[in-house]
Amino acid sequence: MSPLDDPAREAAASAEPGFRAMLAARPHLALTEDGLAVEAVPLARIAAAHGTPTWVYSAAAITHRYRALADALGEAGLEARIHYAMKANDAEAIVTLLARQGAGADVVSEGERRIARHAGIAARDIVFSGVGKSEGELRSALADQVGQINVESAEELGMLSGIASAMGVKARIALRINPDVDAGTHAKITTGLAENKFGIPSADAIALYTHAASLPGIVPVGLAMHIGSQVTSLAPYRAAYGLLAALAGEVRAAGLPITLLDCGGGLGIPYRGEEVPSPAAFAAVLKETLGGLGLKIVIEPGRWIVGPAGILLARVVLQKQGEARRFVILDAAMNDLIRPSLYGAWHGILPITPARWRAALSPADVVGPVCESGDTFATGRALPDLGHGEIVALLDAGAYGSVMSSTYNARPLAAAVMVSGTVDAVIRDRQSFEAMRAGERLPPWLGPLLPPPAGPLAVPVPRR
Ligand code: LLP
Repeated sequence: MSPLDDPAREAAASAEPGFRAMLAARPHLALTEDGLAVEAVPLARIAAAHGTPTWVYSAAAITHRYRALADALGEAGLEARIHYAMKANDAEAIVTLLARQGAGADVVSEGERRIARHAGIAARDIVFSGVGKSEGELRSALADQVGQINVESAEELGMLSGIASAMGVKARIALRINPDVDAGTHAKITTGLAENKFGIPSADAIALYTHAASLPGIVPVGLAMHIGSQVTSLAPYRAAYGLLAALAGEVRAAGLPITLLDCGGGLGIPYRGEEVPSPAAFAAVLKETLGGLGLKIVIEPGRWIVGPAGILLARVVLQKQGEARRFVILDAAMNDLIRPSLYGAWHGILPITPARWRAALSPADVVGPVCESGDTFATGRALPDLGHGEIVALLDAGAYGSVMSSTYNARPLAAAVMVSGTVDAVIRDRQSFEAMRAGERLPPWLGPLLPPPAGPLAVPVPRR
């Protein structure tokens, strides 16, 4: 059966935004005489100069999106601070760009904290989140005097107080509450349900906050919440922040100190042209639910700032006609961008040569070379004929793209380039084979490998 005879696949293909709609929705992409460009740098030029697969980020899109969020909060009259969730993309150049805009950081590991500091973010502007911070991580965060540590359990609170007291310091903490609110997103990135590992049940919040205030190494400063990621409706935010407001009231009524509310991140982006809340609408919900409390507001967006600002540039290795399907095989794979394999995520795929946009479209599966059927970027996608050497851009890959890469199948990590206007610069070298294997060792009992002996059964022989 031809894929075109399959109504479900045909319908799926026709519900997709067309190439021009995808372009129109992304102001940092442009069509130039030399094809698709990020800002004013044609992607063909980047592919020729730096090879593929390569991540390409628009500096203008990142700063513009950060400013749009900051302005929306300001215009709503909120005293709010943006702590960029570095897990979305921890490239030094991106964190530095955001630090220069005034962003603080939300970090979840020692590594992220060190990158933030290196990028020029002051320790007081760092929130340290995460459900399983190690003793060592807590100790170094305290030694660095980070501004806020979000505590996720009674057990962690005790551990942190012990460490801080032993160091003779006090940890400024926010208690992360699990509101048991369904964020309506993919199950793997929902974090605010009772069944999730995150946070403290709201019923325990006041007792634990009271206990925190009594501990020698702890200064409670507020409450935190994060309900999930790629949230595309405001209703779950309204429910969660309503609960946050009520809890803040109870903390105050108990005579306990509170100065801030950390509202998490999660604001979704339109991967497939879906309706998502605007920054102004999100700010209005913050204002409506929390605005009257006289408390500082912290938000921790990651994806919304950097997601649309990045693409993954890939080259077609070959096009293969299978029995029932056409496969476009790229030189990028699930080890580079895992979101489609892991979450069934939809990413736009744009050929960078506009002539291809005018060609006849038919369904194709866009896949990588990794030896798993799950190494699939798109199924039944309406695409033109795309032969060897054609270059495509996988859109909205700026968040949870390169940070989730691995070297599976011994594929080195891709290069990364940042564009600003008419110039581009490599912000991460393509990983060399040597760098990928650095740290590999043989156990002593295997000894150094000898060259294999000649003959049909050549096997390496350990030297004694
Ligand atoms: N704050 C906390 C406590 C978080 O756990 C997260 C994300 C954020 C902020 C930032 O959320 P954002 O604004 O970026 O949605 N790998 C998944 C997303 C995992 C999100 C984990 N936590 C994906 O590719 O969709």
